[in-house]
Amino acid sequence: MLTPESGTDVKRTSLHGNWSSRMAFILAVTGSAVGLGNIWKFPYIAGQNGGGAFVLVYLLCVILIGMPVMMSEILIGRRGRRNPVATMALLGEEEGASKNWKWVGAIGVLAGFFILSYYSVIGGWTLTYVFKSAMGSFNGASPSEVELAFSTFTGSAWKLTLSHTIFMGLTVFVVARGVERGLEKAVRFMVPALLLLMLALLGYAISSGHFGAGLDFMFSADFGALDWDSVLAALGQAFFTLSIGMGAVMAYGAYLPEETSITGASAAVVAADTGIAILAGLVIFPLVFANNLNPADGPGLVFITLPLAFGQMTGGTFFATIFFVLLTFAAWTSALGLVEPAVAFCVEHLKRSRAQAAVLVGGLIWLMGFATVFSFNLLADFKFYKGTLFDNLDHLTSNVMLPLGGVLIVVFAAWVMCRNSTAEELGGAGRLYKIWRFLARYLAPVAILFVFAKAIGVIPELS
Ligand code: PFF
Repeated sequence: MLTPESGTDVKRTSLHGNWSSRMAFILAVTGSAVGLGNIWKFPYIAGQNGGGAFVLVYLLCVILIGMPVMMSEILIGRRGRRNPVATMALLGEEEGASKNWKWVGAIGVLAGFFILSYYSVIGGWTLTYVFKSAMGSFNGASPSEVELAFSTFTGSAWKLTLSHTIFMGLTVFVVARGVERGLEKAVRFMVPALLLLMLALLGYAISSGHFGAGLDFMFSADFGALDWDSVLAALGQAFFTLSIGMGAVMAYGAYLPEETSITGASAAVVAADTGIAILAGLVIFPLVFANNLNPADGPGLVFITLPLAFGQMTGGTFFATIFFVLLTFAAWTSALGLVEPAVAFCVEHLKRSRAQAAVLVGGLIWLMGFATVFSFNLLADFKFYKGTLFDNLDHLTSNVMLPLGGVLIVVFAAWVMCRNSTAEELGGAGRLYKIWRFLARYLAPVAILFVFAKAIGVIPELS
């Protein structure tokens, strides 16, 4: 039996209770990982970054960097059993370093605010598309009609405000009630149902006659087309889609029972998340090519390709409605992960009830959401650096804050925490542990910092 060198009693309990089972934890983390990032964001970023080579780099990032970061976050969370800010302060001190590690938790809370401010607006889009689909708006529609419906909708600040408000309201409602059995049940049903529906859509995409072109776009890698900005985008997407680098998984880890295997749970989540993203790409790209659309079209891609496909199918109204309901659920369970660190922080430090904390945090994020709402209409022409306010928020969070948070998290777990503490959490110092430690100590931090340095031009090209 290993004992921590610091000699501290680590049998802490969380203030917020524990997951009822290992399965509940896996479902909650999967619920947070599988979301708009897989089905809305992955295809359009892959499209904007040229396809195949981007997908390959993304997969490497998920396995070699994402997986060790996720394991580090969960083990830190379970050892501290508090909100990410307090956990980092506590473990920083306990491991003989500094309380100032709390700032890693604080950056994460802030990243969660920023991400949810735009995530909620897109969540509102999916919600609106539930109603549009149910009313049969896309039946037999042509590509230009579907594109027009999308641009008319996003061009209306009022419509986006309304749907953003409803989505944020739904998120606050569930968070306020605590991590409910209802939610666990919803995820238990939602992820397999989404998977099934995506498989059915895959069948349709195969029959579209352009499956080969889609496959080619996704899997034939032309590295000439890849620049360091695209590599950074792949890294950022790996962090975003796995919900890592901002303390969400750390917060969930705080409620994880002692005996659950962190490695096994992480592998299950990473596999489910990656599988759904790849499936989304295999569905979307054949439809893009079948309808002469542009794969680099941006955030509207899924909201144009899928309604078009559903509009051509028998029973399309029904399937489209179910699809957008499931996507809304996926976005909803992810939104919960985005606010959990901030809510846990308010409950523990400001001594607020969960409900008060949820309303306070949700209200602030709602306000911040207007930067994204207006990016598609009133302020669509206000562009700087990476584009609109939304583009910049997305770049800052996914491509800067999450990878940086990730570096600090792995460095803390693999360099600051003593070997015994981490081995105890990861179930002993066997082969898997050694692989984790190598990736977390060397590969992940060096690779992330290298990609950063390349993307901002600090390391010049050789030729
Ligand atoms: N992983 C989510 C997605 O792919 O949609 C987004 C996300 C949720 C990021 C929760 C971060 C987070 F804490």
